[in-house]
Amino acid sequence: MTLRVDVLTLFPDAIAQYATTSVLGRAAERDVWGLHLHDLRDATDDPHRTVDDTPFGGGAGMVMMAEPIFRTIEANPDLARPLIALTPSGRTFTHDVAAALAALEGFTLLCGRYEGIDQRVLDTVVDDEVSLGDFVLAGGELAALCVIEAVVRLCPGGLGNDASSVDESFGDGLLEYPQYTKPAEVRGLAVPEVLRSGDHAAIARWRRAQALARTLARRPDLIARRGGLSAEEARILAEMTILEENGPNG
Ligand code: ADE
Repeated sequence: MTLRVDVLTLFPDAIAQYATTSVLGRAAERDVWGLHLHDLRDATDDPHRTVDDTPFGGGAGMVMMAEPIFRTIEANPDLARPLIALTPSGRTFTHDVAAALAALEGFTLLCGRYEGIDQRVLDTVVDDEVSLGDFVLAGGELAALCVIEAVVRLCPGGLGNDASSVDESFGDGLLEYPQYTKPAEVRGLAVPEVLRSGDHAAIARWRRAQALARTLARRPDLIARRGGLSAEEARILAEMTILEENGPNG
């Protein structure tokens, strides 16, 4: 099944450029997903193709007008649903939101610009609002690309092989363990010995311990969300700490 992604934007070229590159471009060639771009300026009928105006009540900046957005939606009755607006006021985008979107037949992203989108659009035709985090971008285009990339790589065949998105950060609620590649020593810095041991059980234990330690240190909120450490996880962590304190022969 091809995931259908519609994007309503003032900058379709910016979306098209990135979406045809690298992982997203190759996935589109394999029909994992299909992009449908809609330029909101095409729905204007004044010579300046106006899409924004000053806010009622005063204040800085410009607000995206409702009419071009309503018209674009009406002119495209086959737009994929849900219709999701990208704004800093939305609920936070996470792995779980990405996984839920990857399971759908498609969705539409509405990219905000300027100081925001006329609330009447959000109240009547938008199904959901999503934010990348507690910071403000100049517009929703970069956010839309982040959402698309996070979702497409979770789709079957999205990465070209199904295994690679399974064993990574957030899928199991933990940050990823450290990775190393050749050579085994670079500028006097060695790869942890266990990774060259060929002992797959020991490697799996080491990676699990690293992921746990890293998540505990950097994102204790993720550990709390999983309900704390299990007895097994606490044991794996303690084991690693003892090994590190005593050295490999200790
Ligand atoms: N548009 C502007 N800022 C944004 C953010 N943080 N997330 C999603 N869309 C945005």
